[in-house]
Amino acid sequence: MTGMIRLIYHSKVSPGLTAADISNIYNVSMEWNKSVGIGGVLFSDGKRFIQMIEGGASIITQLFRKILNDGRHFDVTLAVAEPLAERRFGDWGMGLIRNSDPNVSVLITKMTGSDSFSPETMGLDELRSLLLLLARLGDDSSLKLFKG
Ligand SMILES: Cc1cc2nc3c(=O)[nH]c(=O)nc-3n(C[C@H](O)[C@H](O)[C@H](O)COP(=O)(O)O)c2cc1C
Repeated sequence: MTGMIRLIYHSKVSPGLTAADISNIYNVSMEWNKSVGIGGVLFSDGKRFIQMIEGGASIITQLFRKILNDGRHFDVTLAVAEPLAERRFGDWGMGLIRNSDPNVSVLITKMTGSDSFSPETMGLDELRSLLLLLARLGDDSSLKLFKG
């Protein structure tokens, strides 16, 4: 039995990728992640992705290998890989968060001081806090954030 880990990475959205393509990534991820007990959150402002995934070390490694080789994004940069004493997310698959949601854009602006979002300039703690906050937004009231 391997331990649980959490990965956070960011990447750039490949040219030509549409909102529908991002929804498609979300739908496939939701299904698969749920079936293997992975939880996480995927954020995109249409230019960037940031994703946090949590689950068993070997399944997370397997998933991250697929993600690294996925042509729908590039410059995939691993920001955090850490053991997890306690899982933050349930094994409900994947939340999708877009900054078109006003709650989300307010939060991003508050945390980064700008509405043009650049994960490269954020520290690890900041990135982690942002994702956990976004996830909490999704947990609260509006699962609409996730379920479209
Ligand atoms: C930004 C991004 C995030 C992704 N996140 C997941 C994920 O959490 N779970 C998942 O199964 N696939 C995710 N994918 C898709 C995988 O890269 C891959 O296409 C998918 O797992 C199907 O792989 P397969 O055809 O080899 O089974 C993501 C892709 C991108 C571009």
